[in-house]
Amino acid sequence: MQIMNIAGVMFVGRSPGIVQLLTLVVLVLLGLFYWPFKLTGYNIDFEKYSRITENVNSRSSNCSINSNCSTDVTVVAQFKSLVLRLTGINRTSVVMRLESTLHGAADQLPPLLQILQEFEAKYKCEACVDSRPSPRTVLDFRVRLEHNVHKLGLAMPAIVMNPKGRLGNQMGEYATIYALRKIYNATVVRKPVRRHLEEAFSHLTIPSLERFKEGDWVAAGFDSHRSTFNNVQLAAAGLLGPHPFITPGTPFETCIFAAFRAELREEFRFDDNVTQQAEARLRRVREATAQVEVEGAGLLVTVGIHVRLTDYPHHMESLYSVRNITNCYGSYMKNAINYFLQRHVNVAFLVASDDVNSTRSLIDELRINNVFFSEGTPLVDMYALSMCDHHIITLGTYGFWTAFLGSGTTIFPVIDSTTGYRYSKTLYDSAGLGPPDFVPIPMVQ
Ligand SMILES: *[C@@H]1O[C@H](CO)[C@@H](O)[C@H](O)[C@H]1NC(C)=O
Ligand SMILES: *[C@@H]1O[C@H](CO)[C@@H](O)[C@H](O)[C@H]1NC(C)=O
Ligand SMILES: *[C@@H]1O[C@H](CO)[C@@H](O)[C@H](O)[C@H]1NC(C)=O
Ligand SMILES: *[C@@H]1O[C@H](CO)[C@@H](O)[C@H](O)[C@H]1NC(C)=O
Ligand SMILES: *[C@@H]1O[C@H](CO)[C@@H](O)[C@H](O)[C@H]1NC(C)=O
Ligand SMILES: *[C@@H]1O[C@H](CO)[C@@H](O)[C@H](O)[C@H]1NC(C)=O
Ligand SMILES: *[C@@H]1O[C@H](CO)[C@@H](O)[C@H](O)[C@H]1NC(C)=O
Repeated sequence: MQIMNIAGVMFVGRSPGIVQLLTLVVLVLLGLFYWPFKLTGYNIDFEKYSRITENVNSRSSNCSINSNCSTDVTVVAQFKSLVLRLTGINRTSVVMRLESTLHGAADQLPPLLQILQEFEAKYKCEACVDSRPSPRTVLDFRVRLEHNVHKLGLAMPAIVMNPKGRLGNQMGEYATIYALRKIYNATVVRKPVRRHLEEAFSHLTIPSLERFKEGDWVAAGFDSHRSTFNNVQLAAAGLLGPHPFITPGTPFETCIFAAFRAELREEFRFDDNVTQQAEARLRRVREATAQVEVEGAGLLVTVGIHVRLTDYPHHMESLYSVRNITNCYGSYMKNAINYFLQRHVNVAFLVASDDVNSTRSLIDELRINNVFFSEGTPLVDMYALSMCDHHIITLGTYGFWTAFLGSGTTIFPVIDSTTGYRYSKTLYDSAGLGPPDFVPIPMVQ
């Protein structure tokens, strides 16, 4: 596609001569050659990685897989302690899996150990700043072990997504395993559950299993003391052995999946009946504001607002001791709306919420013009908000998707990180999602 575009530009207005034709052939061949290895938006150098593994394989080692020579034992111990230090993993079952996998692959470790040591010195030392673009994997992504093992008819390691939560959470779980497939070439599949995600999207490329038996799958283990899913990354990298793993909890690893924003927009492509209803809502906003358009006010700028309520005030209070979210939203929303009113003359706001009545009173108090409510299904609202030029989101994961699937500027709320609430600034920072695209505004109590 890209190549045809390049060629199209090159040949415009001229009949192709032999030089141009040769150039086209070379471009097409280059495209074919690079296509399976290159990741859109992030250049993971699989070629370089294959060179490293070739070196490993051709190295004549005296330490065979089934024997313990002293070099192996030292390398395994160093490698293990470095991995545990970098990941913060201390769950006994995971440490044991790591240990036994490393012993079995001892002869492959020396070059990988060197990569890890350089990785730590560059990004994880005390004075270091991890400025990598997403995917910011917990270890250097080249550190992976291939296992020529099949189980359950799948190449190992495999990760099955166990859908938890509602639409926004499930999209995060899907995006996380999508990224694991792209980064580590891990096999990823879905547990068949016809709720939320599966009902919503018919273009998902990660296959759903036909049969699923819980007992076939190994729990990858959630690092509860840190609220991270580093275990799942290690599993996908093959460092926990050739096993089928099941995702724990609700992984929402923006740090790795933000790299695949364009591809995820394709995965989460809405069906025609949803897009048509959403587009009709946006058309109505434009028509209604066209009547009051002021001379010289410029093009209409639309801002999608999502206000998450219902169970959330209780959720935030009981789990994170953040009291009265409804009240906090008031001043946050005022600042967020002003951000756009200060920058554009002609602004319309399209609002969606899981509690429209409370949101109406909240917005009414702000006394702003051009406010419209989209009261569609969750999918129609998500698509309508994502199609707006800019976004204001509140807490929860649904709002994140209305912004992430769209473009423009997103205002998101910052909650005091000591509360332990994950879906706030830490999550955006860890993915390198910052200004001008993602602008944090504090939400004070
Ligand atoms: C490996 O074995 C060969 C022959 O047995 C020996 O000459 C060589 O020193 C050994 N290398 C190491 C690293 O132990
Ligand atoms: C190698 O040594 C480690 C610990 O030193 C042990 O756990 C492992 O089972 C040994 N492997 C073999 C194949 O003997
Ligand atoms: C893991 O570390 C956390 C925090 O440092 C600690 O509370 C927990 O007991 C540790 N777990 C194990 C299995 O060592
Ligand atoms: C990815 O894994 C498959 C097996 O699942 C293997 O056939 C393929 O060669 C791997 N690709 C890369 C780039 O490592
Ligand atoms: C859209 O159409 C599909 C298939 O015709 C149907 O399953 C789905 O429920 C529809 N969605 C909406 C929001 O109408
Ligand atoms: C939360 O704040 C709103 C708005 O200030 C107020 O009306 C409501 O009574 C408060 N609720 C609680 C439980 O404190
Ligand atoms: C929202 O307000 C409307 C009109 O006042 C009312 O009919 C409806 O029952 C309210 N909905 C909820 C969920 O409270």
